[in-house]
Order: sequence, then structure tokens, then C-alpha cells
Amino acid sequence: MKIQVIGSFLVAVLTLAIAPSYAEQSDGQRASTGGAQTLQDVLARQKGIEVDESFRRENLGDPDKAQSINNMLGTQGGISNADVYRGIRYSEVDIKVSNSGPAADVLVQDGGISWLITRATSIRGYAGYGIGGILVALIAFYFTRGRMTIEGGPSGQTIERFKSFERFGHWCLAGSFIMLSATGLLLLFGRAILIPVFGHEANAAIATFSIWVHNNIAWVFMGSLVAIFLMWVAHNIPNKLDWDWLKQGGGIIGNAHPSAQKFNAGQKIIFWMTIIMGASVSVSGLSLLFPFQMPMFAETFALINAVTGSALPAELLPHEEMQLSHLWHAIVAITMIIAIVAHIYIGSVGMEGAFDAMGSGQVDLEWARQHHDLWVEEEEAKAGQAGR
Ligand code: HEM
Repeated sequence: MKIQVIGSFLVAVLTLAIAPSYAEQSDGQRASTGGAQTLQDVLARQKGIEVDESFRRENLGDPDKAQSINNMLGTQGGISNADVYRGIRYSEVDIKVSNSGPAADVLVQDGGISWLITRATSIRGYAGYGIGGILVALIAFYFTRGRMTIEGGPSGQTIERFKSFERFGHWCLAGSFIMLSATGLLLLFGRAILIPVFGHEANAAIATFSIWVHNNIAWVFMGSLVAIFLMWVAHNIPNKLDWDWLKQGGGIIGNAHPSAQKFNAGQKIIFWMTIIMGASVSVSGLSLLFPFQMPMFAETFALINAVTGSALPAELLPHEEMQLSHLWHAIVAITMIIAIVAHIYIGSVGMEGAFDAMGSGQVDLEWARQHHDLWVEEEEAKAGQAGR
């Protein structure tokens, strides 16, 4: 044990001792490796010191020295053709391959490692802090603001808020979204949380089940998203009333009851967020479900460049398209989860009487007057006309 400690100490001291002297020693050392990479090059790179790579670029081999192995290595022999390798690496040469498919002729693509690191650090961090943060904020809000109650208590009379087909559409959307969120998060955090706690085999089983559920339930989400859009878009067109509602904090902050039609400004924000982000998460999800068949980032970047004058990469390899689709899918999905957690809070424990709208479809008349006064007036006028 002691020997191991002493050994590690010596390695650490040697590393520190060797690395700073990299610049002076590497050229000399490289001569001894026949011009190839040295230990100093590796150590320097690990310390973030820039290494002059010209020794690799210019080290194209010596046909005479390579003579003895030429036959074994085929046509190139011992000569390194750096231009061909660079061409392959950046997909700039015309390659013929015997298998087919959109990505088959990409032999080298090194974006995978930065995709992997972004997923394991930034994306997991954003998901963890974002979802954890909104839960803590809502619990704090509940204990400071308390439940929003019906002023003067419920009237005992009810009015129909949502028909059964509207509630069916909402619950298909909500149910599928919750299953997609749960399975998506299991896939995202499996390696970091499930493997250390339950082991590799359990994580493999959970991940296999999760991806199966995720890929199949996605169709229910997309179908109900279209249904929700068609059913409610007419009630969600922004108007001047929404601005007044927002200026009064929607009655959530303070005790005002700003006027609203069927949907108030806060609900319109949730509606458009659901539609726009739901469409974006669906399209990026489809491009993951059908690999290399739906590249969309290069074209999107070209459009953004044309409009804003930015210099986003307008030419992308099939693999880069997939990496971007995956990161985008995760970012949009997590943003949606954060917003929907707040929506679920208001629609359930946060506000007395709200859940009934999506439960039985009948809400208390007094609740409706306090939150959607203009809608109640419209409904009463319609009922009055029908009764005549
Ligand atoms: C357990 C979870 C959920 C509960 C308890 C819930 C509750 C509600 C309630 C009560 C309403 C009607 C509010 C009103 O009377 O105007 C509503 C509307 C709505 N819900 Fe949900 N919901 C849930 C999940 C979801 C999910 C996951 C989504 C989308 C992915 C969603 C999207 C919507 C939209 C777009 C509306 C219309 C706009 C609005 O009222 O905010 N809901 N929800």
C-alpha cells in the first residue's frame, strides 16, 4: 500500500517536473522516436499547452526506409499521405464504399466526444438544476403565497368549461408527455444515477424498456398535440386584454382578478409554448427515430445566417446533424418539463377549483367569474339566446 502511495507521488512529481520543460526537450526527444509523438507532447496536451502539430503534418514517411514492409501494407506502403487522411477526416474526398446509406461514406467524424461531454455535463446539469429549481420554487411559493382560493367560497352552481373530447385530448397529451418525460430522464440520468445505485444490468433493462416506451408513446403525444392545436387555437390568439392581464400579474401576485376570456394571457403562454416547443421536440425526435433521413440543422443555420448575418456552419456531416438533433431534443424537452411542472401546480394544488375544469369538465360559477369573467358572460349570452 505504502509503495503504491509513494509510486503515485513520484508519478505526480515527475509529471510536474517534465511538463514545463516540454518546449526545450520535445524536439530532441522526437528525433529519438523517428519524428513521431513523444511523451512530452502527450503531457503538454493534457496540461492544455498548445502543441505545434507541424511535425505530424510534415512527417509523410520515407519510401526507402519503408521498403521492407511495403508489400504487407499494399499500395501506400510506408508512406503516410497526410492530405488523403485530412480529406477523409473532413469528408473532402470522394470515397467509394461497398455499403450504402446516407452516412456510409463518412469514415471519420470526431464530434462524438464533444456531444458525449455536453450530454454528460451541461445537459444533465441543466436538467437537474432546472427541474430541481422549479420544484423548490413552487414549494416555497406554496408556503409563502398559499393556495389561491375562490373569494367568498364556491357558489355551488357550476358551468361547463371543457367538453369530454377536449378533456380526452388534454389527458392524452398530458399522459403521453409525463411518460415521455419520465423515460427520457431515465435515459439521460441512467449512467450517472442508476448504474451506481442498481448496477449495469438493471440500467440496461430500464433503458431498453424506456426507449421502447419513449419511441411508441411519442406518436400519442404528436397526435394529441395536433388535436389540442385545432381545438383551442381560436381561443389563444393574443389580444390587448392579455397585456392588461399581464400588467396586473394575472392575479397570481396580489389579489386582483383581471378580466379574461376563455383563456387568460398566462394560459395562452402555456398553450403556445406547448405547441411551438412540442412541435420542435417532435420534429427533432423524428429525426432521431429515422437516423440520417431528416437532416435539418444545416438548412436552419443557413436561414439564420441569411437573416442575421451570423456564421453558423451551413454544411454539416450526417453525424453532426444527428448530434445536434439529439442535443436540441434534450434542451427543448427539459425546458418544456420545467414550464409544465408549473402548469401542473396551478392546475392542481395551486388553485382551488381549477382541476375540475379537466376533471369533470364542470367548474364552480364563482371560480369562473373570478378567473374568466368575459367567457362566463359569452356563455350566458349564448345560453340566453338558445333559451329564447
Ligand atoms: C397532471 C398533470 C396536469 C394537470 C393536473 C393539468 C391541469 C390542467 C387544467 C386544470 C387545465 C384547464 C385550465 C382552465 O380551466 O383553463 C389545463 C389546461 C391545459 N393543459 Fe394541462 N394539466 C396537466 C398536464 C399537462 C401537460 C403535460 C400538458 C402539455 C404537455 C398540458 C397542457 C395544457 C394546455 C396547453 C392547456 C390549455 C392552456 C392552459 O389552460 O394553460 N397539461 N391543464
